[in-house]
Amino acid sequence: MRALVITESDDDVTLRVEEVAPHGFDEDDAHVLVEYSGVNYKDAMVAEARSRVRRTPRVVGGVDAAGTLAEPFGDLAAGTAVAVHGGALGVERDGGFATEVRAPARWISPLPEGLTPRAAMIVGTAGWTAMASVLALEHLGLAPNAEVVVTGATGGVGSQAVFYLARRGYRPVASTGTPGAAEWLHGLGAAAVIGREDLSDRPGRVLGSERWDGAIDCVGGPTLAQVLRALRHGAAVAASGLVASAELATTVYPFITRAVSLLGVDAVEAPTLQRARVWREVARTAREADLEAFVDREVGLAGLAPAFEDLRHGRTRGRILVDPRR
Ligand SMILES: NC(=O)c1ccc[n+]([C@@H]2O[C@H](COP(=O)([O-])OP(=O)(O)OC[C@H]3O[C@@H](n4cnc5c(N)ncnc54)[C@H](OP(=O)(O)O)[C@@H]3O)[C@@H](O)[C@H]2O)c1
Repeated sequence: MRALVITESDDDVTLRVEEVAPHGFDEDDAHVLVEYSGVNYKDAMVAEARSRVRRTPRVVGGVDAAGTLAEPFGDLAAGTAVAVHGGALGVERDGGFATEVRAPARWISPLPEGLTPRAAMIVGTAGWTAMASVLALEHLGLAPNAEVVVTGATGGVGSQAVFYLARRGYRPVASTGTPGAAEWLHGLGAAAVIGREDLSDRPGRVLGSERWDGAIDCVGGPTLAQVLRALRHGAAVAASGLVASAELATTVYPFITRAVSLLGVDAVEAPTLQRARVWREVARTAREADLEAFVDREVGLAGLAPAFEDLRHGRTRGRILVDPRR
């Protein structure tokens, strides 16, 4: 199979597109013929020297992929369209930047009707996380028309969060540091677009005004702290990321005086039923034609190294789609 192999030696990392034999899999794994993968923030972290995310010196990258089963697998017939994501995929086990991938049942989701492998990888782990965040807020009772702030709004998670919130009858407020992104974000359904620093007011006080009925944050650090101090009484933030920082300096006041909730969202170890439910809700909320708006560009395996560089520097809008057959 053709694959992007990431190898680290002497504190340096090399990325090569090579013909390799499938490696490190179990006999009872599913065998998937990959049609598309996508670039996630984590993929760029895996491809760094001294990566804190990669768990082995050599791995085929790609934390997600979609395609068809090469052979029957459990109840699923050969040819069934599936997504593969999570667990150690692309971090320790060979991942989706390849023409084939092998994975255990718990990382495999049959795609619901209406989602092709291409559409599933436009969504990708980022979009799956965006929908899981929306569902987490809805579980706590998000009211129709609720004003929900989304941070990192031009990114993979953020942009799809804006779109799904709008489609499901809420008013997403997109917070972005990318100049010139307002028109695109309004096109996705943002009711308003604000800057990265405009999340809360009253900087000298412990709590800001109550502004947001909910929040989806993939930025972390001071951004998440600002969101917490500006949530309305009883509101929640679904937190999934750390692009600004993994640290969180806050007080207990949002929790004990405004009954605010901090909801963790994790795509990696999500159980099978949750995976299936999130993919179903994606298919119910978006049509494939809508999803094309999220494609920043489409690359082959050789285009991955520059794509990682662009993602690290915030030079992308939406998702980079990967066709490993190119
Ligand atoms: N928990 C999970 O299972 C899970 C799953 C998927 C992703 N994630 C995490 O979610 C985060 C986002 O992933 P992604 O794929 O959406 O990444 P992405 O496409 O790179 O988007 C991140 C966005 O954050 C904003 N941003 C970048 N650097 C920033 C900084 N220093 N301060 C504030 N904002 C900054 C940018 O948006 P603007 O320019 O619009 O502000 C950027 O587009 C990552 O930390 C990723 O690891 C977690």
